[in-house]
Amino acid sequence: MGRFVKLATVSELPIGSAKEVEFEGRIYALFNVGGVISAIDGICPHQGGPLADGALEGTTVLCPWHGWRFDVRTGASPFGPKIKHPVFAVKIENDDILVEVP
Ligand code: FES
Repeated sequence: MGRFVKLATVSELPIGSAKEVEFEGRIYALFNVGGVISAIDGICPHQGGPLADGALEGTTVLCPWHGWRFDVRTGASPFGPKIKHPVFAVKIENDDILVEVP
């Protein structure tokens, strides 16, 4: 069971935007899709691309380096069922975005 820590504020993450946050040596990518905030591991499992810099298509982020795709809410990838990118639970408290870190 992880603990929820504040990684950003809702004001910093308008609808349609993304933000990269480092916490305790791990990179997180936060996304706001239609007002729903999601948090995934920010490093692409292919070759380490920065997922927070990728374009969003609906709930899918495209890695800016070679275009691998991940659903920001489930971590699933259309490139294969074996690819399951880490997703972290998110809670909103007032303006704070709290992410359940390992
Ligand atoms: S590093 Fe992400 S697709 Fe290659």
